Amino acid sequence: MSILDDLKAIEAEAEEGLRNAGSLDALEQIRIAVTGKKGSLTAAMKMMGKLAPEERPAVGKLANQVRANVDAAIAKRKLELEKAVLAARINAEAADVTLPGRYLSQGTQHLISQIREEIEDIFVGLGYTVEDGPYVETTWYNFTALNAPEDHPSRSAKDTFYVVDNAPEGKESHVLGESDVLLRTQTSGVQVHVMENRKPPIYMICPGTVFRPDTADANHLPQFTQVEGLVVDEGITFGDLKGTLDYFTREIFGKDRATRYRPHFFPFTEPSCEVDVSCGVCGGKGCRFCNNTGWIEILGCGMVDPNVFRYCGIDPEKYTGFAFGIGVERVAALRYDLPDLRMLMTGDMRFLRQF
Ligand code: DAH
Repeated sequence: MSILDDLKAIEAEAEEGLRNAGSLDALEQIRIAVTGKKGSLTAAMKMMGKLAPEERPAVGKLANQVRANVDAAIAKRKLELEKAVLAARINAEAADVTLPGRYLSQGTQHLISQIREEIEDIFVGLGYTVEDGPYVETTWYNFTALNAPEDHPSRSAKDTFYVVDNAPEGKESHVLGESDVLLRTQTSGVQVHVMENRKPPIYMICPGTVFRPDTADANHLPQFTQVEGLVVDEGITFGDLKGTLDYFTREIFGKDRATRYRPHFFPFTEPSCEVDVSCGVCGGKGCRFCNNTGWIEILGCGMVDPNVFRYCGIDPEKYTGFAFGIGVERVAALRYDLPDLRMLMTGDMRFLRQF
């Protein structure tokens, strides 16, 4: 075989190899085997020197042509393989931008927290401060300083969760070790804490959890939420109480709702009332929701009893004031016609997500 045939065979073999090369690695192996330093074509070209001078032009021409063809074929196949690699990658990593995005479910505030904050906003708008108080109280703060006598029925173990019973017989005071300890049954004790620690004028509310040994039913929960309010200043009258609470009820229930102040008794206020709001279901005509009365009770209130001022070291000759206690679950039930207060405690998201 002549060297010309060798060259043609090398070219044919290279082209065949390239056609079958399935990867860039395989292609590189072929390049090294043909045009690499120790490649078949390189070796053939080195033979040129050993040829007779008259053979050289024809062999040189063919050799250069084969070299150019092989280089071009390698470059072409390389491009094809690179395109295939890219196409495979695009295919594998493709993102379908028309698919719906991943939904990040967002929580909502519990209905009771929403209403508590709404009540806070109303009173902060009137210049009130928002106070906090302890869940665990002594009888001094929960009862005695609020003018509830020793034999007041609300003090009985039937109505109060007692935690520690350490008051020496007949000698109960605001000293911790000489007082029974309980879960507060009302937020009214915060009135005492605030008055002990601050001089009037006082305009404050205190939202918080309270506890009573009631079995949960449609209208009762053993743990619920109140917002206490207290105003102490010079020259405060019942008119201030009424104007404030009328404003509050209209803000929270709407301008079309009427209010009614019904005389009642609380140990720490005199006079005291319960406030009713006209029924939103029947518009005050009377229906099942309002027990056919046209009214629904939402809070207790009254003028601070001078005895409470004395217990807290405030001069009742100089200052007067009013207090109120709002039931937050009650407000929620009225706003949304909730048939059962227990719905607020079960954590059923189908119910809670509605608000
Ligand atoms: N603490 C009372 C209760 O739990 C509610 C209340 C009534 C609070 C009258 C007050 C008030 O501040 O003046 O039933």
